[in-house]
Amino acid sequence: MTVPEDILGGRYALGDPIASGGMATVHLGRVSADGGFGRIVAIKRLQDDLVGSPEHESVLREEARLASRIGHPNVVATLDIVREGSEMFLVMEHVVGQSLAQLVFGSNGGKVEAKMAAGVICGVLEGLNAAHLARGGDGKWLSIVHRDVSPENVIVGVDGLPRLLDFGIAQGKGRDQVTRAGQLKGKFGYMPPEVLMGEEATQRGDLYAAAVVFWEMLTGERLFEAGPNGRQVDIIPQVVEGKIDPPSTRADGLVAQLDAVVMKGLSREPHARYESAREFAMAIEDCLAVASSRRIGEWVLQRAAKPLAERATQLEQFERRAEQLQSRREAMAAGARTVAPKASDDPNAPTEAPGGSLTEALRLAGAEKKRRDGLRRALGVWRSLALILVACVVYLLLR
Ligand SMILES: Nc1ncnc2c1ncn2[C@@H]1O[C@H](COP(=O)(O)OP(=O)(O)OP(=O)(O)O)[C@@H](O)[C@H]1O
Ligand SMILES: [Mg+2]
Repeated sequence: MTVPEDILGGRYALGDPIASGGMATVHLGRVSADGGFGRIVAIKRLQDDLVGSPEHESVLREEARLASRIGHPNVVATLDIVREGSEMFLVMEHVVGQSLAQLVFGSNGGKVEAKMAAGVICGVLEGLNAAHLARGGDGKWLSIVHRDVSPENVIVGVDGLPRLLDFGIAQGKGRDQVTRAGQLKGKFGYMPPEVLMGEEATQRGDLYAAAVVFWEMLTGERLFEAGPNGRQVDIIPQVVEGKIDPPSTRADGLVAQLDAVVMKGLSREPHARYESAREFAMAIEDCLAVASSRRIGEWVLQRAAKPLAERATQLEQFERRAEQLQSRREAMAAGARTVAPKASDDPNAPTEAPGGSLTEALRLAGAEKKRRDGLRRALGVWRSLALILVACVVYLLLR
């Protein structure tokens, strides 16, 4: 029996792409099991030109290793990693929602109301806090640094939960240092000044990046702009020595206390920032009433109505296709079972070809032989009796 090509690792149906980043494409997927079990997942695979590259495969593997240690509602759950042929796939929970980048900078984007922005960033900070505190299987602190906190790497669900994703360049104990040597990874506009100046990334650097994201939500603008033709290096002097305006200079109705919280997060000196993601989140909560997840969910539904409706249609069509595929597979498996051999005591018993049972044929042949032997024996007895009878008659006649 052949396995259909679009089934990965024997369990996951691979659907259409739903998004793509710098390194990978994310597809819809569905994991299924007998008896109608089926669950939609998201499957991340390397872009075509990176497939087979040991360095990029190690990035995916490390992403899975670190992210799977963080069980938190504000972090996209990593469920599995599978290899099919020469490709590696990372399986995650599928989030019905929209990336923060699209929500703020997309066609229907713009400034986010302070309460809403605070609700979103507090969720991101909670996820970050869980990542920062995560421990390995041996109970040892992993000291994870995400290194790529940005609006592109936050997805806000229609359930109102902001979730951090993409631990592709995250750093943690046990990570292969060689692949990182001498490379600046991440997006310049969210990298803390000390990292752009060549220092090692730290958890306080993640808090700085979260502060940039918060500033951008409040103002609806990018804090640091790339140069002509998207030149990223032009961002560096702005980050390292440029003046940063408090968000209230770009958006109405923001209290001074909130300005102070954002600016503390954006401090150039790492030690002047918050001590932890949780402390940062609590400082925000002290400034204003943060929006509930109910309201955040409503906001996502309203801002991303069109893409969400398109995704719903895509999901429906994919589920239908995946269900049909699953039924076909179950039927094939059931077909194979009906012709399967009966449990035999002999582990070396010959296996059977589909469409005919070898064991059954052997059993029938044996029975037939027994019947013929029985007949032969019975004939032999009758023949002997007949001979005795003839001999008796001849004897009587001759006497
Ligand atoms: N689990 C998920 N559920 C739904 N959408 C997702 C999921 N994971 C990722 N996405 C979407 O796919 C996009 C790309 O994902 P991700 O950031 O992990 O890829 P990447 O190639 O590593 O990105 P980068 O450009 O940061 O290198 C995200 O911005 C998000 O919109
Ligand atoms: Mg990304």
